[in-house]
Amino acid sequence: MSLTIKRLSYGIGAEVQGVDLRRPLAQEAIDQIRKAWVENCIMLIRDQDITPQQHIDFSSRFGALDDHAALFKYRHPEFAQIFIVTTRPNADGTPSSTRETGVNWHSDLSYTTRPATGSLLYCVEIPEIGGDTRFTNMFLAYETLSEGMKKLIAPLQAVHSYAWAIHDTTSTRDPAVMKALIDVNPPVTQPMVRRHPETGRLALYVSEGITTHIAGMTREESQGILQYLFAHSVRPEFTYRHHWRPGDMIMWDNRSTMHQALRDRVPGTHRHMHRTTVLGEPSGALYDAAA
Ligand code: SIN
Repeated sequence: MSLTIKRLSYGIGAEVQGVDLRRPLAQEAIDQIRKAWVENCIMLIRDQDITPQQHIDFSSRFGALDDHAALFKYRHPEFAQIFIVTTRPNADGTPSSTRETGVNWHSDLSYTTRPATGSLLYCVEIPEIGGDTRFTNMFLAYETLSEGMKKLIAPLQAVHSYAWAIHDTTSTRDPAVMKALIDVNPPVTQPMVRRHPETGRLALYVSEGITTHIAGMTREESQGILQYLFAHSVRPEFTYRHHWRPGDMIMWDNRSTMHQALRDRVPGTHRHMHRTTVLGEPSGALYDAAA
């Protein structure tokens, strides 16, 4: 199989062409995709028509998959490895609890001690307008900091907590759902700079959606540094904005990117996505506020 890989933007992303995910790929093709994915941070694969099982089979070639036990209400009824991000209302007419999943910049599962290596999001339904996702390159975000800032943050750990999302006063997410998620995911500390295990490159590892403060500092003391890093890390030249088509899949590397689902959907239109999550290597520790 001959694969063509084309860059998507200056800062981040590539598209691989010539892949049919309905069939098992040769190891050589997987190796080629993995190399280009890790180098470009996100990989787009268009025009696929796959079942949940085919999505799982392809994703599993990149590592063990999460069964989304902590988010069990939102996983596919028959396929635990498929997490459903949807704006379609529930069967009883109530709003979907995942209609606002990922609206703040974040890296998947950074609020746990086993953050995700990768996530593979597949588009089932998308409105004609909106439903976009933005991605940013955290290698570039780190590499473009001053030497002084790099030195300052190199030894620091930051606290990552799902609880942070509850402070988003514009969110319409169900507070009971948020509380349940916080209960099973106590705050953790993560290094502010992470070395990518495959490329050796350093990446900034803080996000507006999940990072609450710098460990060992008060929230007020942390804010100046963090607010600067949050704004710097999403400079337009590091980012790519994807307008989905049904059949698109994007796989992103959570060790070198952040992403954000935009609230740019026209009311009354729907977006329905399936996501698999590739588990990563252990990182960080449970946060001990007293320490
Ligand atoms: C997510 O944060 O995993 C979902 C992103 C999206 O729906 O665009």
